[in-house]
Amino acid sequence: MTFEQAKKRSLLLKEQLEQWNYEYYVNDNPSVSDQEYDRVMQELIAIEQRYSKLIIIDSPTQRVSGQVSKKFNKYVHTIQMLSLGNAFNYDDLIHFDEQIKELTGFPEVEYTCELKIDGLSISLVYDNHLLVMGATRGDGLTGEDVTVNIKQIKSIPLRIDQPTLTVRGEVYLSVEEFNKINEERGENGESEFANPRNAAAGTLRQLDSTIVAKRKLNAFLYYYVNALQDGIQSQYEALQRLEQLKFKTNPEYRYCSNIAAVWAYIQEYEPKRHQLGYEIDGIVIKVNNLNLYNRIGYTAKNPKWAIAYKFPAKVVVTKLLNIFPSVGRTGRITYNAVLDPVRIAGTIVRAATLHNADFIIERDIRIGDNVQVKKAGDIIPEVINCVVACRQKNAQKWYEATHCPECNSLLERVEGEVDQYCINSVCSKKITRGLEHYCSRNAMNIEGISEKIIERLFKLGYLKSFSNLYQLEQYRAEIIEFKNFGEKSFENMIASINNSKNNSLERLLFALGIRHVGQKTAKLLARQFKTIDNLATMNIEQLSIINDIGPIVAASVVDYFAIPDNQQELALLRQRGVKMEYYATNQHLAQKFENYRFVITGVLSKPREYFKELIESYGGQISENVSAKTTYLLAGGYAGNKLVKAQKLNVKIINEEEFQQLLNKGG
Ligand code: IVH
Repeated sequence: MTFEQAKKRSLLLKEQLEQWNYEYYVNDNPSVSDQEYDRVMQELIAIEQRYSKLIIIDSPTQRVSGQVSKKFNKYVHTIQMLSLGNAFNYDDLIHFDEQIKELTGFPEVEYTCELKIDGLSISLVYDNHLLVMGATRGDGLTGEDVTVNIKQIKSIPLRIDQPTLTVRGEVYLSVEEFNKINEERGENGESEFANPRNAAAGTLRQLDSTIVAKRKLNAFLYYYVNALQDGIQSQYEALQRLEQLKFKTNPEYRYCSNIAAVWAYIQEYEPKRHQLGYEIDGIVIKVNNLNLYNRIGYTAKNPKWAIAYKFPAKVVVTKLLNIFPSVGRTGRITYNAVLDPVRIAGTIVRAATLHNADFIIERDIRIGDNVQVKKAGDIIPEVINCVVACRQKNAQKWYEATHCPECNSLLERVEGEVDQYCINSVCSKKITRGLEHYCSRNAMNIEGISEKIIERLFKLGYLKSFSNLYQLEQYRAEIIEFKNFGEKSFENMIASINNSKNNSLERLLFALGIRHVGQKTAKLLARQFKTIDNLATMNIEQLSIINDIGPIVAASVVDYFAIPDNQQELALLRQRGVKMEYYATNQHLAQKFENYRFVITGVLSKPREYFKELIESYGGQISENVSAKTTYLLAGGYAGNKLVKAQKLNVKIINEEEFQQLLNKGG
């Protein structure tokens, strides 16, 4: 066979195989036998082996992969992967519908309902017709490039009949496949996966793609990113367009002309949920008309134009064997239940939270009672109540702890608050939990130092404060002798600790564990004050000037810097090389909108969040309401009250184009 002949033949075979794939994996409607499929595949492989130039990225042979990766590369999503707010009952749904009516001014809103597939979300990017990226969600901004594994999902097309597309959906395992995998794992003496979702997640992040190929992952696609720009007007149309492009969509979706129809859909599917062959954990309700999305808007994490209705969590009854308190990094006491092990939604539950002492006392929960347990948000198990009807006569009344379970100091309770606190500043558990927080991913992001290691180092006296972390080298000889912690682990840990010295200020501020200073506040403070020295000299009034920083947060920050122990600890951190400055991603740009206050209103071409992020990354601030302090009102179409107010107050009003010009202007 000449090269030209081989080229022609391979194209033909490739098309044939993809067509069979589509029939089999997307339509569940095969038209050839497995043998015939394999024969053609073998022929194509043979041709490609002979002429390696003919191997193209979308060849079906490229799905057969033996690649073993060391680790996955990070992938930054061009458009953030948001999650959804939850509704738990009819009232929540009505509230959702009313909010949308209010925001759009429409008397009735149309929806598309879809099943909420219990898998993990992925984003696929097609460029020049080809699948070029398959990434996990990660934290929504940055995920992992798992393209090799995505290619093992046969229903996902490697080439599409459209030049570019970003599409999102859910990777899942069928219940049948899940059971099969677990059976095999059981036989091999491996631990079983708790549920199909965990199994799917474990598989998609599996470094050996031959293992992925063996486990039959599948995917439903449901989100056409930038659909409007491609002329698609509704979610319903978007799903149909995806089908046209030969993606697998979930067939159960439905157009609903109003919220009553949505409720009917939910009630129809709740009893059906266990007969689908794959797990779902609710129903996703999306406003159908895509033109309304910008007007309806977004919260920090969720679109307001969609909501996830969660099916009621399964409640089980089991025996309460014991109650014990534990202390967290802030000193807050939580109470925990030891349970007679019981299976809930796929996992064996042995412990659950009982929240605080009042929770137990109000319900008169006693050790030995039968209690109702459920998984809150289907994740964290919690006790709901006791079943008094079958209480043993001699069941003892329970009394709250008076002393810290760790350090035995007297617990305190602030008038009017439910929680008890350990106020001993040298309580060992508070310290180790604080250290764990300091090292955690969103704080200083120190890797290779587990909860166990921290506790061990603490007990040995090597690690009692944050600043001790930066001196651990001196215990090298001792630490590398730890069980399961060799030289390599030590080196990695130290490298990561050293890296953390160069973090930008917001990480440190969050890591320090200042009361009421969460990640978002830390970012605001860092951006505004630039260095920790600046921040430390501010008084409550100066701090409160920043939007979103209320008097309670401001007071807490001031208190923190007034405490001599904290001052000393900060001095030590500085002495050991920890930087205490804000590093904007781009220093030069960061100054551009400094001291500018923006208000955004109306319908813009992109979500509000987009403009918000942009303005903030250039050092500007966003306010909810127009006031005399507002520098610019960025106004899109259909702007209302805010526009009127800005005109009254003589605030400069700019449209999207003018905003872009402002951005592009030098200096
Ligand atoms: S839409 C911006 N539709 O549920 C909207 N999500 O809690 C993006 N999910 O992260 C989500 N089935 O992993 C959407 N039909 C569906 C879904 C679905 C499952 C998952 C998805 C998302 C999570 C939100």
